[in-house]
Amino acid sequence: MKSEDISFDDFMSLDHKLRKKILNDPELLKPLIAKNMKASRYKHSLSVAQVCKDLAKKHHVDPDKAYMAGLLHDVCKFPNDEESKELEEYLRYYDPDKLNGAKGIYHSWVAPYYLREKTNFHDRDILNAIYNHTICNSRDKLSMILYIADKREPLRGIDDDILKIAEKDLKKAFEMLNKDVERYIKEVKNERFVENSI
Ligand SMILES: [Fe+2]
Repeated sequence: MKSEDISFDDFMSLDHKLRKKILNDPELLKPLIAKNMKASRYKHSLSVAQVCKDLAKKHHVDPDKAYMAGLLHDVCKFPNDEESKELEEYLRYYDPDKLNGAKGIYHSWVAPYYLREKTNFHDRDILNAIYNHTICNSRDKLSMILYIADKREPLRGIDDDILKIAEKDLKKAFEMLNKDVERYIKEVKNERFVENSI
């Protein structure tokens, strides 16, 4: 079976050696990820993965792990509303308090549960970074890298210095971006800023 034919729903029925192979090879994993989201979201994921890898190299973080975090971070941004109900089901089961949080963050909170359940993927660093990629209260380098890459990958077309600053000073870029995100959530979306501690 080619990885093009596999979806996350039938992943666990594969032989465990093949599962391991796919989970360790971004090229084999890409077709599964592409199936879970709109084409534009998939392009964004590829772009985020590349930025993650580039920043990781500059900050002594495993670039392969960073690439994988970028590739997988929006795995729960399903293409239609009906499937988004699945996110609520996951939260209701695993972490019901989060149902009080902003719906826009659900996909980040659910992704680690989803990936563990659908694929037995269990890299804690990557899952933690994905969990924190929308509102980030984690301060490990990989989380900060993914947070910055998601919000400033070139396809977003945002013209500021944050990505450039991140190449030299990750923490500074992170704090600048965090302020910008907090302002956006409060002022533009008019939603509560939700603490995301785990
Ligand atoms: Fe994203």
